[in-house]
Amino acid sequence: MDIIPLPAHIEVRPGTHQLAPETTILTDTANGWNADYLRQLLLPATGYPLPVQTDEGHGKNLIRLHLDPTLTTLGTEGYRLEVQPGQVRVEAPTTTGIFYGIQSLRQLLPPQIEQRRPVSADWSIPCLTITDQPRFPWRGFMLDEGRHFQGKATVLLTLDLMALQKLNILHWHLTEDQGWRIEIKKYPRLTEVGAWRTGTSAGFTNAAFDGIPHGGFYTQTEIREIVAYAAERHITVVPEIELPGHSTAALAAYPGLSCTGGPFEVATYFGVHPNIFCAGKEATFTFLQDVLDEVMDLFPSPFIHIGGDEAPKRNWKACPDCQKRLRSTGVKDEHALQTWFTNRIVAYLESKGRRSIGWNEILQDGLTESAVVQYWVGGRRKLINAIRNGGRAAIMSTWRDTYLDHDYKLMPLSRAYNYEPIPRELKNLHPHSVLGPEFPLWTEWVPNRSRFDYQAYPRLTAMAETGWTPKERKDLAGFRLRLDKFLLRLDIFGVKYASLAQAEPAKIKRLFGIFSFVKPQTATRDG
Ligand code: ACM
Ligand code: ZN
Repeated sequence: MDIIPLPAHIEVRPGTHQLAPETTILTDTANGWNADYLRQLLLPATGYPLPVQTDEGHGKNLIRLHLDPTLTTLGTEGYRLEVQPGQVRVEAPTTTGIFYGIQSLRQLLPPQIEQRRPVSADWSIPCLTITDQPRFPWRGFMLDEGRHFQGKATVLLTLDLMALQKLNILHWHLTEDQGWRIEIKKYPRLTEVGAWRTGTSAGFTNAAFDGIPHGGFYTQTEIREIVAYAAERHITVVPEIELPGHSTAALAAYPGLSCTGGPFEVATYFGVHPNIFCAGKEATFTFLQDVLDEVMDLFPSPFIHIGGDEAPKRNWKACPDCQKRLRSTGVKDEHALQTWFTNRIVAYLESKGRRSIGWNEILQDGLTESAVVQYWVGGRRKLINAIRNGGRAAIMSTWRDTYLDHDYKLMPLSRAYNYEPIPRELKNLHPHSVLGPEFPLWTEWVPNRSRFDYQAYPRLTAMAETGWTPKERKDLAGFRLRLDKFLLRLDIFGVKYASLAQAEPAKIKRLFGIFSFVKPQTATRDG
């Protein structure tokens, strides 16, 4: 069976069930959305009417969707899919489980089922029983909108493809030095000024500056539409508002929130930028709380990402307001001041019922216990100790193994597939502390859809299996065989994935420097 991610248990039997003009979708009313979604998946390519009914009637060719709250051993996302001649049955204790059962059913049909026009194919489904649930509750993809604005069509397609791969978290990185991408009604300059830059460089300076203006942002109306589209697909959109660093675009709009007062321009080059939110001025906190209020209104996610990575302390050292704050809080240095800053925002979000996530730089002594750490680089021992001793929750995005912006020579498909999210030091001692893996696509060198597709696929497909499939069931050779069929589906979606020869280059680079991702082969910006 060519399902990706590979289900936990499959038992195949002889025989098939045939979709036919008389096939009826039978559902309980509570499952109505899933039934309509299934119909919309199957109708265009088959051309069959596929009526949705809640009453069995005299149907002899059924796809039955059945919610059964007593099937608790399947967990909150699991399902059971049984195919017999004459009947397909998807059952689960939740509508999420039914949705994932539909995704597996979809992959049991020929890839042409993805066509949005009638095509002829053998619409038969093998007889089998699948009992399935995910390994991790957090199966994330991160999209950086700051470096290059991707736009609504790309995001909606991404959500559809995430659903197909049973990924359930879209971490939406919406603010950066190079652009602020979310409309905030109270602070219009964030998008009037902060969403636009005068051009883009090909590195960490403006030595090779293209002078082509770049920008864009999501209106609140668009965000609501995207969040709703995601929710229908059982995907939570986790917004990221970066603080205190990676905030040049916000400071270009509101320079009074900095230590020096500006003026600043929205960044045109990449790397780590020196101007960050001032920790001493109360205006910073008024602003961030106002912004987060609008963010919480737009995003029902229980988690809000607050960044926290790469915040240089030079300005804080020289700023009278920051130094005054340092004395009044009694913290020992500027690093501890960032922890104070983080904790203040974490407490604010917690007072509104939301839990904060930050990149692993936030993991310092005194960090509020409830804050989730997203691990990417450095501080590995700190992370292990925090999980082992304190049960700190973590999301795993190890830079070397999960960053989709890497060149395939540095992170080939096999390496992406073989990533193990639970650090070997922990084995299975603290399985619940690791919420799951997340796979980031940073977009410094991803200006358009074709480049996005090339970087993300097929690696994201491999990674999706890591998030879902039991560790002992994973098998690279088997995945490669199933991938051949899966790529035919991506073809129909128009995804310009890397070829297998590109994704698994014969010669792998041994040297892996921190700056290697700006090497010329990855720096082509014309897609
Ligand atoms: C990061 O890659 N700066 C989290
Ligand atoms: Zn300051």
